This record gives sequence, C-alpha cells and structure tokens, in this order.
Amino acid sequence: MPYAHITGWGMTAPESILTNDDLSKMVETNDEWIRERTGIRERRIVSDGQTTSSLGVDAALKALTVANLRPTDLDLIICATSTPDYIFPATACLIQDQIGATRAGAFDLLAACSGFIYATNMAAQAIRSGSIRNALVIGAETLSRFVNWKDRNTCILFGDGAGAFVLQASERPGGVYSAVMHSDGSGGDLLTLAGGGSANPATEATIHEGKHFIEMDGKEVFRFATRVMAQATNEALDSAGMTLEQVQWIIPHQANIRIIEAAARGLKLPMDKFVVNLDRYGNTSTASIPIATVEAVEKGQIKSGDKLVLVGFGAGLTWGALTAEWTGPLPSKGHVYPQQYRVLGRVRSFVRRAIRFIEGIIFRREL
Ligand SMILES: CC(C)(COP(=O)(O)OP(=O)(O)OC[C@H]1O[C@@H](n2cnc3c(N)ncnc32)[C@H](O)[C@@H]1OP(=O)(O)O)[C@@H](O)C(=O)NCCC(=O)NCCS
Repeated sequence: MPYAHITGWGMTAPESILTNDDLSKMVETNDEWIRERTGIRERRIVSDGQTTSSLGVDAALKALTVANLRPTDLDLIICATSTPDYIFPATACLIQDQIGATRAGAFDLLAACSGFIYATNMAAQAIRSGSIRNALVIGAETLSRFVNWKDRNTCILFGDGAGAFVLQASERPGGVYSAVMHSDGSGGDLLTLAGGGSANPATEATIHEGKHFIEMDGKEVFRFATRVMAQATNEALDSAGMTLEQVQWIIPHQANIRIIEAAARGLKLPMDKFVVNLDRYGNTSTASIPIATVEAVEKGQIKSGDKLVLVGFGAGLTWGALTAEWTGPLPSKGHVYPQQYRVLGRVRSFVRRAIRFIEGIIFRREL
C-alpha cells in the first residue's frame, strides 16, 4: 500500500491590506478591541478581477513547482472552498483548465473551514488505495466578497487567500498517517450564508434581507471551537498510534488566537508548538491551514521528518484533524516549469472551445 506524501506546497495572498484602523473607519470598532478579542491586526482583500480560482491557480502552480511535477501528471484536483467562483461549474474545474491538468478529475469540497483537512484526507485516501498517484489539494477563498462590511461581528474576522499541497504516492513510509472528520448539522444555523441556494434562491427580497452575506453567532461558534480542537487532535493522534510528545508542530485553523490558546491549554502544550499567522491574514477559512504551513516551511520552522497535526473547525458544523510526517519533494528527474503550463493551458482551453464551436455547427447540420 503506497504512502501519501506531501511533496509540494504553495500559497498566495492578495496584495491589498485592510488594517484594523481601516475597519474602524467603516464600522464602530477599534484596533485594540479586534486585537484583544481575536489576535488579528490585518487581512488581505482581493482586487477587482481576482477570484477564488485565480488565487487557487497561483497557489497550485507554486505547489507544483516545489514538487517538480507537471500539471499533466495530476490525477485528481480537489478545491476546498466556501466561496467558489460559481455554484457550478466547480472552482476545481476552472483551476484544472487554467493550469492545463489535462488528465485530472476535479471537484469542489464544501466543509467550510475544515475543508482543507477533509480534502487532504480524501486525496491521501485515494493515493493509499492505489487508485491514483498524484493529487493537488487547494484551499482558496474570497470571503471579502461575502462579508457584510456593515456587520462588525463578522467583517473584522475574515480575509482572502489560497494555499495548496501536492500529494504523491511513494513506497517510503511517511506523509499523511491519519485523519478524523466530524460534523454536527444541528449547529448549521450558527454560521451561514443562506442566500443563493435552493432554499433561498436569489430574489430582490433575499438581497434586501442581506441573505447573501455571512451570518454568525460568534459566541456559540467560539464555544464549539474551543471544545473540539483538543478533542480532534487527540483522536487523530490515537488513530495514528502517535503521542503528543512525538509532534513538533500543531497547525490550527487560524480563526481566533483565543481559540488556539484554549486548544493549547486543553492539550497542555506551550503556544510555541502552534503555528500562528492569523495576525496578518485573519481567518481565510480553507486557506488558513495551508497558508500557515507554507509560511512555517519557508521560515525553516517545519523540517523534513517533523510530525505535524493539522486541526480545524468550521460551519456545518464540521471539525477534524490530520496527522502527517513532513517529507518534502520526492526525487525526480529534470526540471519542470509548471508556470509554462498556464500559457499552454490557455491555448489548449481556447482550442477546445473552438473545436466545440465547430463541432456544434457540423452536428447541427446533421440533425
Ligand atoms: C466574534 C468574536 C470575536 C466576538 O468576541 P466576543 O468576546 O464573543 O464578543 P461579544 O460578541 O461578546 O461582544 C462583546 C461586546 O463587544 C461588542 N462588539 C462586538 N463586535 C465588536 C467589534 N468589532 N468592535 C467593538 N466592539 C464589538 C459587542 O457588541 C459587545 O458589546 P456589549 O457587551 O455592549 O453588548 C468571538 O465570539 C469569536 O471569535 N467567535 C468565533 C468566531 C469564528 O471563529 N468564526 C469562524 C469560524 S470558522
């Protein structure tokens, strides 16, 4: 049975920074309150023209470059997102087309902020079963497009960004060891974006009622999060036959520093075991764990051989944790330049559309 190694990683965040002081000019809040209650100082916001898929493409190509893997070698792309470009087609398919991953199946996974853990686990299980060899997992969000900038309960929390992992099969032990995934739909109403689905299709009334914005019961979500973080970490460790002492780094979902501090207390671990960068990005939902991981790897904190726990929670309610040994890129021949596939991908996409157009004319005549 092959192991599923994390062999490539990449992240991207929009250039535009929104500080707490900027927010204090938009709603009744202030820097001190936001920092004390959440730990967040600033977040990144997409500019016009940027989308969840465009962020996902950037992160994906960086991850493929680290793995030295061609997009055409990918068997599967999973994009975990709560803020897709469209309800359908899947954002994963848009990314597949833009990076020229011609052989890959692609789908979106919606488990809110736990989505990256769910998606990494799904990709790892597909590799472990032997049905695929190479997978790309992306967490990408443009939450700023769904935030009510007049609601101080939510608009202070969220930011935009994307992160990606490449997972590859190898006979060498390592990579993803275990994962646990949980849900409790009875808490679905605690964090929602209620408009635009089949329950509340877009109408003038849904827009008027603000149903296309994120709504949250912050206190209840906080209570739920502090309860499940330590619990899920311990479950994932048990299932891998590992102990906390063997773990070098915990990479938690970056929602609120007080939630991470509660998890540290629950696990009786010092805060310096936790990778934290929410002060600079806020809560980027599915992108938060890969962005934190990539920064920690690039800073030299996470090294080959380190044992990690990724742990998160989110709307649904969902929560989960995953244990892994960090290995790094697998040995490969030659140099691959995945960025070039972006241009090739565009040409290919154009040609395929043109062929479809011509076929359409021919078949219409035949009918
Ligand atoms: C949202 C959150 C930061 C609020 O913090 P809190 O300590 O629970 O704050 P409260 O809601 O109790 O509000 C305390 C007071 O601050 C006020 N307040 C709320 N937001 C404020 C803001 N942005 N600026 C200033 N004051 C604010 C409230 O109105 C309240 O005032 P009152 O006591 O006069 O009524 C916190 O509940 C949280 O982080 N929850 C989890 C959210 C989350 O992680 N969501 C994503 C899940 S993936």
